[in-house]
Order: sequence, then C-alpha cells, then structure tokens
Amino acid sequence: MPNFIEIDHPVIRHHLGILRHKDTNEIEFRARLHYICQLMCYEVTKDLPIREIKIETPLEMAPAQQIKDNIIIISILRAGLGMQNAFLSVLPEAGIGHLGFYRNEETLKPVQYYFNFPKNLAESVVILTDPMLATGGSLDAAIELLKEHGARKIKCAMLVSAQDGIDFVLDKHKDVMIYTAAIDRELNENGYILPGLGDAGDRQFKTP
Ligand code: PRP
Ligand code: URA
Repeated sequence: MPNFIEIDHPVIRHHLGILRHKDTNEIEFRARLHYICQLMCYEVTKDLPIREIKIETPLEMAPAQQIKDNIIIISILRAGLGMQNAFLSVLPEAGIGHLGFYRNEETLKPVQYYFNFPKNLAESVVILTDPMLATGGSLDAAIELLKEHGARKIKCAMLVSAQDGIDFVLDKHKDVMIYTAAIDRELNENGYILPGLGDAGDRQFKTP
C-alpha cells in the first residue's frame, strides 16, 4: 500500500479553483473548504476496519456495521480548524485535539505554542488536518509530538502540498499516510506554495 494518495476528483477540482482565486472572500473560502474536506474524508476513511453488530430495526433484528477504531481528529492551528470541522461533520463521534504551531517567517521552522488532545492516542486512528504542506516542517513536528504521546496510526489530510514537503515528511515517517487534494509546482523563496492559495489561516479568518 502506498503511503501517499492524491485525491483527484472533478468536484474537488472545481471547489479548489474557487478557493485559490484571490477574490474569494473568507465566507466563500470556508464554505468551499468544507465541501472539499467532506469529500476528502470519504477517501481518508475508506480503509477503516469495521465490526459486525446486530441492531433492532422497527421490524426485526438485522446485521449492521460499526467503525471499529476510535477516531481522533487533530488540527494544526490555526489553518487546520476549518478542515477539522468538515471532518467532524462526517465523523460526529470522533474525539478532537489541537496542536498550535506557527512558522517562524525567517527560518521557516515550526514554533510550537499549544497542544491538547484526548489521552487515548495509542488506541485510536488519528486524522491530522492542515491545509498547507509546504516545507513539511510543521507536519513533521506535529507527527513527532503525536508519536511521543503514543499515536501509532496517523493519517494526514492536507489540502495543497508541495512535493518537497511530502518527500521530507515521508522520508522521516514511513508509517503515516498522507492524503492531499493537489500537488503544486514549487515553493517560493518565502516558503509559500506556488500557485497555492496564499496564507490559508489568513484567508479563513480574515487576518492580519
Ligand atoms: C501554515 C500551514 C501549515 C504551515 C505549513 O501555518 O497551515 O501549518 O504553514 O508550512 P510548512 O510545511 O513549511 O511547515 P502558519 O505558520 O501560516 O500558521 P497559521 O495557521 O496560524 O496561519
Ligand atoms: N502556509 C500557508 O498558509 N501557505 C503556504 O503557501 C505555505 C505555508
């Protein structure tokens, strides 16, 4: 099984084009991000094991299925929040966690400022959300932290990725899965993805 999947779908491409447009405002940006992530969630969760159960319908007993593993959705703040909400809308029983990282604009290295997540990482499937995988520094640091706290099954949902960032992370973490909706051309001298969509946090939250 490859540990990287590009999720290519006409509906995702359609919304992504609108997301990337410089004139798309924050309301539309959040809405389109939500649609894309609900579709991404289908692919990210496709291989989750299920268990057979019995339920009672209004008429009789019937076989049914349940997702076997506990799921925890963890976002990298701030930009991962919108993706997290979309995943949660499809997986309402999931646990929720947050990791605070920002990139130092000069060194491009991630700076950690917060973390909080459920304790049972080791027994759970962790879905990590962040729209941008640029140098890969933030995702690498997030995965390291989650592994230190016991996480074993980590699936990373990234909206737009640079090949350098994907290679950097997968070289260090051969045991995680990365899913992305697009692999863009390159990084510029400031570590921004080209063509990309700009600063994913600023565009969602209308900052600075
Ligand atoms: C962005 C993005 C990733 C990181 C990607 O966050 O959401 O977390 O940069 O870059 P990297 O792959 O080179 O590490 P940012 O630092 O802009 O923080 P924000 O979400 O608070 O705006
Ligand atoms: N972070 C962003 O928000 N956008 C990029 O292109 C790179 C890092």
